[in-house]
Amino acid sequence: MHFSFWEKTGFAVLITAWVLWGSDQIGDMLVHADELAENAYKIEVADAGPTEGAVVEEKIEVSAVSLLASASADGGAKVFKKCQACHSVEKGGPNKVGPNLYNTVGGKIAGHDGFSYSDALAGKGGQWTYEELDQFLKSPRDYAPGTKMTFAGLKKASDRAEVILYMRDHTDNPPPLP
Ligand code: HEC
Repeated sequence: MHFSFWEKTGFAVLITAWVLWGSDQIGDMLVHADELAENAYKIEVADAGPTEGAVVEEKIEVSAVSLLASASADGGAKVFKKCQACHSVEKGGPNKVGPNLYNTVGGKIAGHDGFSYSDALAGKGGQWTYEELDQFLKSPRDYAPGTKMTFAGLKKASDRAEVILYMRDHTDNPPPLP
């Protein structure tokens, strides 16, 4: 078979075009494979074992309020040792680094006379309900960013429940326990 120059050129062009197209396809496949690999990886990462575990733990930890009924104020006296450097809790006790905490439970947030609160806490408004106290004592900084209370917080819900009961014992007309 004899092909003319133009026929040969035509085949050459066709073959080149086919090879180029083919490599393009292969390229696509490679890119696609990459995407797949990435997706598969992401899904694996989203196995979220530890994260979910942490969330569940967080939920269990979240509230001291549910523990109030079973917690003891006596235990709270012990927990309060962590607060004593900055707080008195007796009626008529002095403000120290922090305000006196008599009548705090159920009272106005940032409401103790003669103490100069941070704007962060003064701007909160509302009352120290058991829920609010629980949140504040868990992490003062998260509850009121910029608070002057430089105390990391009580991570254990049982500690918070006990110290809240202890403060409640130093309150004239505390709100009923939930
Ligand atoms: C390093 C000192 C320090 C320690 C320790 C500390 N506090 Fe405070 N606390 C403060 C200061 C300062 C404020 C005022 C915060 C502000 O104005 O932002 C405050 C505010 C408070 C308030 C709000 C009072 C109000 O009148 O609204 C409560 C409740 C409280 N503290 C409870 C506790 C308890 C309970 C502990 C111990 C578990 C504790 N604090 C440990 C310094 C401290």
